[in-house]
Amino acid sequence: MGALAIFGKIFVVLVSFLHHVNGRFQYLNEQCDFYKGNWVFDPLQSHYDSSNCPFIEKQFDCQKNGRPDNLYLQFRWQPFGCNLPRFDGEDFLRRFKGRSIMFVGDSLSLNQWQSLTCLLHTANPQAKYSLARTGGLSTFTFPAYNVKIMFSRNAFLVDIANTSAGRVLRLDSIEGGEIWKGVNVLIFDTWHWWLYTGRKKPWDIFQEGNMTYDEMDRLVAYEKALNTWAKWVDTNVNPSISKVFFQGVSPDHNNGSDWGDPSAKNCEGQVRPFMGPIYPAGAHKAQIVVEKVLRSISKPVFLLDITTLSQLRKDGHPSVYGHGGHNDMDCTHWCLPGVPDTWNQLLYAALIET
Ligand SMILES: *[C@@H]1O[C@H](CO)[C@@H](O)[C@H](O)[C@H]1NC(C)=O
Ligand SMILES: *[C@@H]1O[C@H](CO)[C@@H](O)[C@H](O)[C@H]1NC(C)=O
Ligand SMILES: *[C@@H]1O[C@H](CO)[C@@H](O)[C@H](O)[C@H]1NC(C)=O
Repeated sequence: MGALAIFGKIFVVLVSFLHHVNGRFQYLNEQCDFYKGNWVFDPLQSHYDSSNCPFIEKQFDCQKNGRPDNLYLQFRWQPFGCNLPRFDGEDFLRRFKGRSIMFVGDSLSLNQWQSLTCLLHTANPQAKYSLARTGGLSTFTFPAYNVKIMFSRNAFLVDIANTSAGRVLRLDSIEGGEIWKGVNVLIFDTWHWWLYTGRKKPWDIFQEGNMTYDEMDRLVAYEKALNTWAKWVDTNVNPSISKVFFQGVSPDHNNGSDWGDPSAKNCEGQVRPFMGPIYPAGAHKAQIVVEKVLRSISKPVFLLDITTLSQLRKDGHPSVYGHGGHNDMDCTHWCLPGVPDTWNQLLYAALIET
């Protein structure tokens, strides 16, 4: 047998091996939807202890605020067709060396940012970190890796301006987007503030073009603002530098009818997920708008589709064990450790597989 024949054989083996590897990746991407699955009881799954995450905000620190039950920490998200990759905090820092990640949005965005910084710190407790806050921007840095993980508080994504006519919510203006340019991973969210009325509402009038409105259907206003954001993405994002995600809509649990238990006033006392196959409240109305707007964007944008899996977690909120330990009821944010850790596991999966 000549050298050429041996080389040929090796070549065939090599090609079939690559084929096999390639085939597996295609299976992962095309057959397995990480967002379709269920929560499974898994008492052995590990999660960080909130006491090992010194910078965790008190409003999310349910254990420290006295939440007595811990069953809610023993459920793992299990996609139907495959397993989620384990969150590997060391790999994450190595992979994102020299890169920047920014969460932009409201306090649900803060919730996910805190979860990610806790996951990374507790996985790399020896790695020095720094945390700086200036105005609405919080920057968490691992200097040895030059990895920056930022949170920019921005409840509407579009602009609010003070004018002589009052505080104007400008549905078609997004000057706040300047600081998003050039960031390597952007994760946006907005929803909850669009529903505010009365004294909680931080604007007086809506503006679109040269028209102003005292009131507007909130879902319509939301869609207009998201379309402004979508145009920003198409105009300003360079996909070879920045990956863009939308967090999806984080659901509240303020009404037991949503999960088929009208006797439950809210999430208080809920100690286990909703275990049925279909969440009774159905699709979230804001999520439907988000999906419609994302389809209109021509640049690559990835939906971190956390809505359905979070709808099932009526047990994941601080309820009375949030808000700095006050007795307010919080069925909107999430305890940490908790559900947002799964959001970040999904973010990690999306980042390493695309
Ligand atoms: C707008 O006015 C409010 C008071 O009505 C003030 O608290 C806020 O700082 C002002 N914002 C800007 C950007 O000037
Ligand atoms: C408002 O804008 C529209 C289109 O942009 C324009 O046709 C119209 O003249 C403007 N109206 C006023 C009062 O400026
Ligand atoms: C809870 O939801 C049900 C069904 O959608 C509705 O009839 C009821 O008014 C809601 N309760 C509250 C307190 O909003």
